[in-house]
Amino acid sequence: MDAAAPILVFDSGVGGLSVLAELRKALPAAPVIYAADNGGLPYGTKSEAEIAARVCGLLGRMSERFRPRLICIACNTASTIALGMVRDVLAVPIVGTVPAIKPAAAITRSGTIGLLGTAATIRQGYVDRLAAEFAGDKVLLRHAAGELVGAAEGKLRGQPLDPGVIARAVAGLRSQPGGTAIDTVVLACTHFPLLRDELAAGFGGDVAMIDGAAGIARRIAHLTRDQAFAPTAPDFALFTRADADPDALLPALRHYGIARIEVLQ
Ligand code: DGL
Repeated sequence: MDAAAPILVFDSGVGGLSVLAELRKALPAAPVIYAADNGGLPYGTKSEAEIAARVCGLLGRMSERFRPRLICIACNTASTIALGMVRDVLAVPIVGTVPAIKPAAAITRSGTIGLLGTAATIRQGYVDRLAAEFAGDKVLLRHAAGELVGAAEGKLRGQPLDPGVIARAVAGLRSQPGGTAIDTVVLACTHFPLLRDELAAGFGGDVAMIDGAAGIARRIAHLTRDQAFAPTAPDFALFTRADADPDALLPALRHYGIARIEVLQ
């Protein structure tokens, strides 16, 4: 294994940075490429076929060009739809992101869990299977909160957050039958932990916000435990389309250890 080979962290936009933050804690010396299919954002409103084709095609091109040691699909929408297909076509180890229903089921006291995801994620059979396997004796209420994706993208570019977006996400779960009993919310889209404080305030202080980022970082650390890391250049972001306002985004990227943006050719 080339010690300079990167870990490629992939999302449709900036959401995967919530996973990268945990990965930095677990593996501070690991070279990383932060890849965002911003040309395809948002994934959550697209069809399964469209998402699968984009994710398989892009990860194929990116791995041929950059030879990552491991790919992390830091996107619940892409993972719940295309993880199996990507593993079938690429020889590189792939770590996916799946809704953190198992840890949520372990901590809920009321037995009612809320799940916020994109429209594409919450309709997946993958989510039904996780719910049946780990939360069969709980109530799991789902809400498609795709509006939060744009809000998180805006927040990282320094734009003001519309409080109505948070209020609508909260109401989408609370207004369902039994929704007042929710004491644990699964943030089943990697963009949503970027709004954790705002969502936690919206639900009220006693409601726990759970996501899978720390578990994903632990899994990557385990899979690379015998490998050496020796970066030869600063980490960069790889976008599928030039960002409209890179100067607004770069300060946030730098906070996650990303020095510059490159556009996939
Ligand atoms: N960050 C992605 C996820 O975890 C989806 C955002 C989008 O709709 O593109 O589901």
